[in-house]
Amino acid sequence: MWPAMLPLILAFLSSFSFVTAATSTARRCVGTITSLSDVSSAVKCMTVNIESFTVPAGKTFKLNLLDGTTVNVLGGIQFGNLSWAGPLFLVKGNDITFNGNNYYWDGGGPFYWDGQGTNGGQTKPHPMMQIEISGTLNDIYVVNAPAQSFGISNPGPLTISGATVDDSMGNSPNSQSNGLPAGHNTDAFDVSSSDLIIQNSNVVNQDDCLAINKGSNITFADNYCNGGHGISIGSISSNVVVSDVTISGNTVVNSSYAFRIKTDKSATGGSVSNVTYIANTATNCIQYGVLITQSYPDDMGTPGTGVTISDVNFNPGTTSVVADSNAYAVAVNCGSGSCKGNWIWSDLETSGGKISVSNGDAITGFSS
Ligand SMILES: *[C@@H]1O[C@H](CO)[C@@H](O)[C@H](O)[C@H]1NC(C)=O
Ligand SMILES: *[C@@H]1O[C@H](CO)[C@@H](O)[C@H](O)[C@H]1NC(C)=O
Ligand SMILES: *[C@@H]1O[C@H](CO)[C@@H](O)[C@H](O)[C@H]1NC(C)=O
Ligand SMILES: *[C@@H]1O[C@H](CO)[C@@H](O)[C@H](O)[C@H]1NC(C)=O
Repeated sequence: MWPAMLPLILAFLSSFSFVTAATSTARRCVGTITSLSDVSSAVKCMTVNIESFTVPAGKTFKLNLLDGTTVNVLGGIQFGNLSWAGPLFLVKGNDITFNGNNYYWDGGGPFYWDGQGTNGGQTKPHPMMQIEISGTLNDIYVVNAPAQSFGISNPGPLTISGATVDDSMGNSPNSQSNGLPAGHNTDAFDVSSSDLIIQNSNVVNQDDCLAINKGSNITFADNYCNGGHGISIGSISSNVVVSDVTISGNTVVNSSYAFRIKTDKSATGGSVSNVTYIANTATNCIQYGVLITQSYPDDMGTPGTGVTISDVNFNPGTTSVVADSNAYAVAVNCGSGSCKGNWIWSDLETSGGKISVSNGDAITGFSS
């Protein structure tokens, strides 16, 4: 009995050690992607290099990475043009180092843009880039997103540095947009997660530069936002919680809104708390500099009271807001009793525009 089994045991052991060796060799390897057909073998390596290629229309370029992988982008990426839901790119993994090296990811925006974004017209793939990694994402460069650029739901701490979203071509009307700016709903960063830093990034677009939909411990620092809807929290629907947000050192120019918190007027059970604005600059605010409203989708409608907003501070570090003459430099539209806690606004300086504060009892130290 025993001697008969020995060869089997030896065969088992040797196949086991072969597999182990093969796995560690694989992990030391460098996977190179020059087309979608390279992806499945490349993601078995701990280093993945992406060379320039065109992703076929209607396909998601999907990277499901081993924990600890380093990704190096070494050439520009284009996407075939097709009206479909997207996303165009999806990356997942833990403790990833993703080096975009400022090569263009070109979404082909002008093919899709019709002034209607994701509210109408043809279906536009969105978000263009779905980010589900922890670790670091550096120097990633998006041009001409069909609609929203980055959808972010990181599974652990993530720092995004030096990203660019350039949808500046979407500022002009085209033959399909009835005189409106062709780009619409081109949010740069849509965030639904926690433990996130976005810093030193550059955005030119036609919608939110940042939209925090839910999450906590989120820092947006030293970014530049031109032409869109500025830095937003919300809109907040029922039972959604946002807390511990720091907005610091950002420059917002030429935007409809600069700093906005919006909760749905009919929502119940959610909250926004502990939001700190430090040393930001907003100039040429077209509709609002600061807008805090509980009447979304209306800017200044009848506010709801079902979502509380607490501890919103412009302190420490001067945040300055320069509004166009017909704009509001500051508008606060809270429901009765639903904006609470300490709102220390001693370091908010405004010039130009109008001021409107409704149920802003929590605010102290603000002088316009
Ligand atoms: C998609 O269309 C855009 C706009 O016309 C164009 O710039 C881009 O090159 C097209 N992409 C491909 C892969 O052909
Ligand atoms: C907050 O997020 C940062 C960045 O992701 C992370 O490094 C830090 O540990 C988080 N803080 C807490 C208290 O979780
Ligand atoms: C301001 O934004 C508009 C579109 O919203 C754009 O057409 C214009 O070029 C921008 N101006 C500057 C100085 O960036
Ligand atoms: C408020 O948020 C900041 C930044 O995320 C954090 O450091 C601080 O501990 C929070 N304060 C409270 C009272 O939770």
